[in-house]
Amino acid sequence: MFKKKNYKDEIDFNRMPNHIAFIMDGNGRWAKKRGMLRTYGHKIGANAMESVVRHARDLGIKVVSFFAFSTENWNRPKDEVDEIFRIARDLLKSKKESFLKSNMKITVIGDVSKLPEDLQKEIAECEQLTKNNTGLIVNIALNYGGRAEIIGAINKIIKDGVKEVNEDIFRSYLQTCNIPDPDLVIRTSGEQRLSNFMMYQCAYSELYFPKTAWPDFREEQLDEAIVEFQKRDRRFGAIKK
Ligand code: IPE
Ligand code: IPE
Ligand code: MG
Repeated sequence: MFKKKNYKDEIDFNRMPNHIAFIMDGNGRWAKKRGMLRTYGHKIGANAMESVVRHARDLGIKVVSFFAFSTENWNRPKDEVDEIFRIARDLLKSKKESFLKSNMKITVIGDVSKLPEDLQKEIAECEQLTKNNTGLIVNIALNYGGRAEIIGAINKIIKDGVKEVNEDIFRSYLQTCNIPDPDLVIRTSGEQRLSNFMMYQCAYSELYFPKTAWPDFREEQLDEAIVEFQKRDRRFGAIKK
């Protein structure tokens, strides 16, 4: 009988990526294909995010980032934008206690000041509640854009009167200053672009573009992505020994 491939057995736990970043794409198309509204795709996408967080923790990953709403996503119909924010708020609200219990630390990057107030409140509460946790860091990008982040950093540097920067100083002005660069970036749904996600931080990330739409991306797909990552030869400009 045909046996489904079990990717988990192939994972080398001595060579895990520290930070995996997810560009959660394909929710709308996934829903449309099923004759549903795009917002249904976002709802099931939130379930996928939950499964991935739990599984990443079980695998011992240190940091996961999720691109949930880009600075360009304001160009979508207001109903859809409102629904995305509502789903994000409900997710944070309902999972707060379990994040705390699981020793997860929630961080949010992006310009949160433009988000609805109830969502801002949940973000602040989650960050505050979990700030001393030492387990998996769950970093959520909301109203985030890589270019906006870089410009924001430059403006802060100017304000601080810093005359010259190096990579370490510049990095300390980014919103991701407390987390390592992504080792692996996974963009679902087959699109092969970054869409303004962590432009500075992804300079040496391995990129992986599975065809799976985000709502279907679960434990098994994460295992497969890690196995693929471990096949890559990261040279960082050097030559192979
Ligand atoms: C990703 O899915 C979620 C967000 C951008 C918020 P999309 O909504 O982009 O789904 P597609 O790409 O249109 O299928
Ligand atoms: C990128 O997806 C943003 C998020 C996943 C939040 P989009 O669907 O917005 O990107 P484009 O428009 O296809 O580049
Ligand atoms: Mg999309």
